[in-house]
Amino acid sequence: MSKKLKTIAPAMLTLEDKTYSLPVFEGAENEKAIDISCLRNKTGYITLDDGYGNTGSCESAITYIDGENGILRYRGYPIEELAEQSRFVEVAYLLLYGNLPNHEQLENFSKGLNESSIIHEDMHHFFNGFPRGSHPMGILATMIASLSTFYPVPDIMDPVSEMQIVTNLVSQVRTIAAFSYKKSIGEPLVYPSIKYKYVANFLYMMFSSPVKDYQLDEDIVKAIDMLLILHADHEQNCSTSSVRMAGSSLANIYAVISAGIAALWGQRHGGANQEVIKMLQQIHAEGGDGGEFINQAKDKSSTKRLMGFGHRVYKNYDPRATVLKKYCDIILNKPGFNDPLFDIAKRLEEVALSDDYFISRKLYPNVDFYSGLILRAAGIPTNMFTVLFAIGRMPGWLSHWREMIHSDQITIHRPRQIYVGEPLRHYQPIEMRD
Ligand code: CMC
Repeated sequence: MSKKLKTIAPAMLTLEDKTYSLPVFEGAENEKAIDISCLRNKTGYITLDDGYGNTGSCESAITYIDGENGILRYRGYPIEELAEQSRFVEVAYLLLYGNLPNHEQLENFSKGLNESSIIHEDMHHFFNGFPRGSHPMGILATMIASLSTFYPVPDIMDPVSEMQIVTNLVSQVRTIAAFSYKKSIGEPLVYPSIKYKYVANFLYMMFSSPVKDYQLDEDIVKAIDMLLILHADHEQNCSTSSVRMAGSSLANIYAVISAGIAALWGQRHGGANQEVIKMLQQIHAEGGDGGEFINQAKDKSSTKRLMGFGHRVYKNYDPRATVLKKYCDIILNKPGFNDPLFDIAKRLEEVALSDDYFISRKLYPNVDFYSGLILRAAGIPTNMFTVLFAIGRMPGWLSHWREMIHSDQITIHRPRQIYVGEPLRHYQPIEMRD
């Protein structure tokens, strides 16, 4: 355990006829944890925590969440302040390097992002190999893993090469995302331009073409920038834990990030934003108030869930959803931006929040409930929503990877299990089996 943890009175555990003393530590925000790292050695027992809901897998100084009180902070800064006052590139620097950058640091970081935004020309051929209609998340995971063959990780990673790799990934994820979209619609790839900043450059690569200029809308640029900030980190969620898990084997960073992208793809994680829009479209097509969908989501014999509702950690309103709902109002009240799905979302939220099923389980709207509406307003196709989440989450994944590889000790992640399979049995030749 690091020196940053405060030791407090130990916990006493009685098993059979013996009592064991287990160390207890306290973090910076008074979160307490029982250290069970010696439990198996001392007692022969392990703990069982399906889904790790009660397990602290590491120490981290990056993000603080208080799910009961709806608090989220990056490096100590409240998410609401960052969403309103900062921009994504600055937040990425904050997450990666621990403090908000000064002028010179921000300028150098932005310059690095700009210079590394082009991917190796030979990688363009890869895009031609994917079948039409391939999901962009599949393309993204593959292309990010392929970067390792074009930009190999040096055997000895000095700070300069590490910073270069991190900068490449934050920048190139956006180029790869835009290129996969262009390929999917059969248009020529548009290279990044030195004229634009991070988000504007992404929109330019997505929507301009040799025969069409893209008119940037500053409100949309701000909204997407804010959306990326809100997605930038969320401590030990499924994809970040996957990054730490894969990274703990000392696999190369591109493969590690690709593992994070694969985990993010699932509909209970980053894929939920796409599912929310599908759900709202279905309710719109059926013409109801969503009551029927809610009934199905409550029905235990159905696998349906109210998408965009509930969170493993927030047992109160997701603070990111509060910021986004406000922003949805601003964007969708602009002339020409009205979206009937927004009204359905607001109505659905009202119905769900007055229903005992959702109240008793503390199921509130999460970040994905509103993010899809902003992305729709920006003209982003639904199958690219999770890709946008991945662009936003990149600095978070990389910050956790950096934190892990720079820690005093890198322990390979290797949980235990409780075996419930067959007891010992012996091999039978095939002719003796029934
Ligand atoms: N609709 C209906 N019932 C739900 C929902 C939902 N969206 N979410 C949870 N429940 C029920 C669940 O069936 C269970 O009921 P019971 O106690 O009767 O068995 C109870 O609430 C607790 O559910 P859980 O699955 O144990 O909760 P969890 O903390 O493991 O799951 C979750 C969290 C996000 C996977 C889940 O709430 C969910 O599937 N939500 C919908 C998908 C979604 O919006 N995901 C985006 C998460 S936010 C973005 C991100 O950070 O990835």
